[in-house]
Amino acid sequence: MRYKAVLSYFGFIFFLLLNLQSTGQIKPGDVWMDSNSEMINAHGGGILFYDGVYYWFGEHRDSGRKQFATWKGVRCYSSKDLINWENQGISLSVSEDPESEITAGCNIERPKVIYNKKTGKFVMWFHLELKGQGYSAARTGVAIADSPAGPFTFLRSFRPNAGQWPLNFKDEWKTDTLTIDDLQWWTEQWRLAVKEGLFIRRDFEEGQMARDMTLFVDDDGKAYHIHSAEENLTLHISELTDDYLDFTGRYISVEPAGHNEAPAIFKKDGWYYLITSGCTGWEPNAGRSFRSKSMLGEWEPLGNPFLGEGADVSFRSQSTFILPLNNGEYLFMADRWNPEKLRDSRYIWLPIKIEDAKPIIEWRDQWRLSE
Ligand code: DGJ
Repeated sequence: MRYKAVLSYFGFIFFLLLNLQSTGQIKPGDVWMDSNSEMINAHGGGILFYDGVYYWFGEHRDSGRKQFATWKGVRCYSSKDLINWENQGISLSVSEDPESEITAGCNIERPKVIYNKKTGKFVMWFHLELKGQGYSAARTGVAIADSPAGPFTFLRSFRPNAGQWPLNFKDEWKTDTLTIDDLQWWTEQWRLAVKEGLFIRRDFEEGQMARDMTLFVDDDGKAYHIHSAEENLTLHISELTDDYLDFTGRYISVEPAGHNEAPAIFKKDGWYYLITSGCTGWEPNAGRSFRSKSMLGEWEPLGNPFLGEGADVSFRSQSTFILPLNNGEYLFMADRWNPEKLRDSRYIWLPIKIEDAKPIIEWRDQWRLSE
């Protein structure tokens, strides 16, 4: 009896020590709980740091058959240390109005929030698919709030850059008469035609497609919207207006026909770095990286930033956001999607570093931010 009591006493101390040791650690791929011991539900998300607090915005995913649409909205959590998260509720709610573009059952993905110093407003942009239309609408949506966690008011959704050519578009491509019907998909001729603006011309009047997206605010306060366009074949980087509520019409296309999704961006020592994935639905694939001296400049491909075992599938994850930390380091955020149970998709947060002028991401079972 006594022997058992001693054993359970030491077991309890061991359990405490183990937990103390893990306190403050990020464990990529584990189940992450909020301060109410509920599973964190903020997928395809991003983080805003404002007034000493981190706000994590992401897709709230339901269970069962409802999981592939949005029935509540964008969820927000807050934290002072990026480890302990408090549920702030739904910061942008879907609408009860069946006529609304964000009516319950639409699909809101990859929401990101930025703060506008000039207007004092918080601005959210997200990928929006209209209810019952699969992924064909390919719109970007914008919402605004007075407080970081919301409530956000939905303003509108649209296909951006209607009637505008990219800054890096040649004049002779504007008048080319080749159309999609003239070519067979995935042939060399078709690939060349994509590079020479096949889809940009198709979508010129209506506006360019906007699916997977992120936002980036530069040191000079200029903000950029980065999204998969042209049937996910090409990324577009667009400048936002000074109030961050619209597109200026200045944009470039990056890696035409390169098939990039899941953009995440950061700036270090005068270089902009872009991390993306390929396009394989919810399945992981090898990540890609690029760098440029300016947001609307020439982007140079740098290859897969993931290193070591599992690099070919980005450690079974897909990029979503990169957060600059106060200590000069960068936090890479990704989703390990679980299409069987989307709300139980896990979060893969890892340090991202620059080595030999390239971004690199290495696996850690657990790690501390102070590293
Ligand atoms: C990959 C995208 O990155 C996700 O956000 C989501 O849209 C899935 N495709 C849907 O298949």
